[in-house]
Amino acid sequence: MANAPSSSSPVIRDIIAARVSRREMLKGSLASGALIAGGSFVGSLFAGETHAAAALSTLGFPELKRVYDKTHAAAEGYETTIVARWGDALATGLPEFDGNKAAAEEQEKRFGYNCDFIAFMPLPKGTVNSDHGLLCVNNEYISPNVMFPGMTEDDAGKTMNKEQVDLGMAAMGHSIVEVMLKDGKWAIVEDSPLNRRITATTEMTLSGPAAGHALMKTSADATGAKVFGTSYNCSGGFTPWGTVLTCEEGVSDIFGGDPKKAPISDILARYAFDGSDIYGRARFHDRFDLDKEPNEANRFDWVVEIDPYDPQSTPVKRTALGRMSHEASTVVVNKDGRIVVYMGDDDYFEYIYRFVSSKAHDPANPASGKDLLDDGVLSVARFDADGTMIWLPLVHGQGKLTAENGFADQAEVLLKTRFAADALGATPMDRPEDIETNPVTGRVYAVMTKNKKRDQSKVNPANTRPENLWGHIVELIPPGGRGTEADHTAEKYQWDLFVLCGNPKEAAVGATFHPDTSDNGWFVCPDNITFDPAGRLWVATDGANDFDLPDGVYGVDTEGAARGLPKLLFTCPHGAEATGPCFTPDGTTLFLSVQHPAEDAETLDKAATLWPDFTDGQPPRPSVVAIRRKDGQPVGA
Ligand code: FEO
Ligand code: CA
Ligand code: CA
Repeated sequence: MANAPSSSSPVIRDIIAARVSRREMLKGSLASGALIAGGSFVGSLFAGETHAAAALSTLGFPELKRVYDKTHAAAEGYETTIVARWGDALATGLPEFDGNKAAAEEQEKRFGYNCDFIAFMPLPKGTVNSDHGLLCVNNEYISPNVMFPGMTEDDAGKTMNKEQVDLGMAAMGHSIVEVMLKDGKWAIVEDSPLNRRITATTEMTLSGPAAGHALMKTSADATGAKVFGTSYNCSGGFTPWGTVLTCEEGVSDIFGGDPKKAPISDILARYAFDGSDIYGRARFHDRFDLDKEPNEANRFDWVVEIDPYDPQSTPVKRTALGRMSHEASTVVVNKDGRIVVYMGDDDYFEYIYRFVSSKAHDPANPASGKDLLDDGVLSVARFDADGTMIWLPLVHGQGKLTAENGFADQAEVLLKTRFAADALGATPMDRPEDIETNPVTGRVYAVMTKNKKRDQSKVNPANTRPENLWGHIVELIPPGGRGTEADHTAEKYQWDLFVLCGNPKEAAVGATFHPDTSDNGWFVCPDNITFDPAGRLWVATDGANDFDLPDGVYGVDTEGAARGLPKLLFTCPHGAEATGPCFTPDGTTLFLSVQHPAEDAETLDKAATLWPDFTDGQPPRPSVVAIRRKDGQPVGA
């Protein structure tokens, strides 16, 4: 970390001083209130408050020792099962998977590549069963350098043949897999009629204000409301009416052509389209060539709603949720029944968003949720130095969002969400990844994974470190009270920095974990998070490999004397990222996606691991893992 910023820099000193005084204010004014009840602030600034906290951690397992190795590992007392691997059959009658002979048509019936977000949707629908359900898993991207012999990452776009390109299109998207727990082991139900792949060719509809807009029309679709496929599905969410939300996170590099020559060059530039076509799609499919079909680009980077319980259902791209590098789409049912969706736009200096539905959800009639996500107000977050957070509405006709400023109507506000957020003065963040709500406290946690591009002139109250290589977690505090009393529709929240990540022993890093954090417990680059039923935060990391450490999963208390004290539960094999953590309703299984094992290899023959099968001559396989306590008790307890 030769370029690590100095914690003695004036900017950092001023910001920390401001945080201290604000925290003192918060403590003074709210100490007796519900908002920070039981809370002791993270970090050395408040070390005096947190004596003996390690012993008070609610996490009962012995911490795993970090090893960066060929295989994964879990803490003592835990066991792991590989549930679904790239290529596993989702239908009967398929030959045994051979990674060297993988083909597009068959891949449509097999588990996809690079698994990411997981939603566990219980079976039968409407139950809270924890031993039978659908695993709904995003397959974010492909890693050609460890899929195809002799291919490098840089060469893939130019050298993949049509069969490989089409395999890539079929291996990305989303996998829906029926799974059952038997004798403590999860397994796929291979012949389930509910098993389904959603790929780059699956027919979908566009709905909400931007559907049918002129900028959505292509030569293949004069309606601007019918689109094929989804790609770069990163994180997501699920709704109380039994659907899954899958997020398209920045599709810019699957398009070829010259974005500068396109009639929508300004939009393409703001959404980072560079014509790089890294998986060779434009060479074989005109719709991915910006020279031929520029508007096809506008039909991606949305949130897609899928009904996993109906394999014939048509997925819907919900444009009211905005267009961005969608990371999460975490759904909260507000106390008045309105549906709230928290979303991050995962790119450097992008923003945090919230959607609030116009109508309330009726739990007695779950089907009424069908179109709740088409009508509501999308807002973007501004973090102020006094600890206030304001949601700025992205509504056509309000403030600067007028025709004179380039927004002809609400459809254009949504198609150009990033421009609209710029115009309102939202706070640029350090790559906002996942956002989740603590079911016990009602507080919301937003993860900034890292931002090497932020220099000293660009630090702000919620992103305090220049060249932030380690990431941090921001705590959003809605008004109204704990748990279900929290008002997730309020215009004004309070906020705090929950933790600044990195090695606490390196003073220049400025990490603010709990002072009792062990050498195995601190982490970098938080990405996906989830909460267990007891309200403990679980963090999956993406980026530790840059520090020659394994990515993994850490449990963290968010309140009480052990607030901000992480413990390591699970480590990934070499080159892999931990992502998509998801609990069964009873908390006894933690599903986790292990994405891109060995991806750092230049070519397949140099792969550092052939996880999880370790079969000579076969490529590594991204997989979903189930983590359980050997005694079947809840994970973390
Ligand atoms: Fe796909 Fe934002 O990580
Ligand atoms: Ca990531
Ligand atoms: Ca992610």
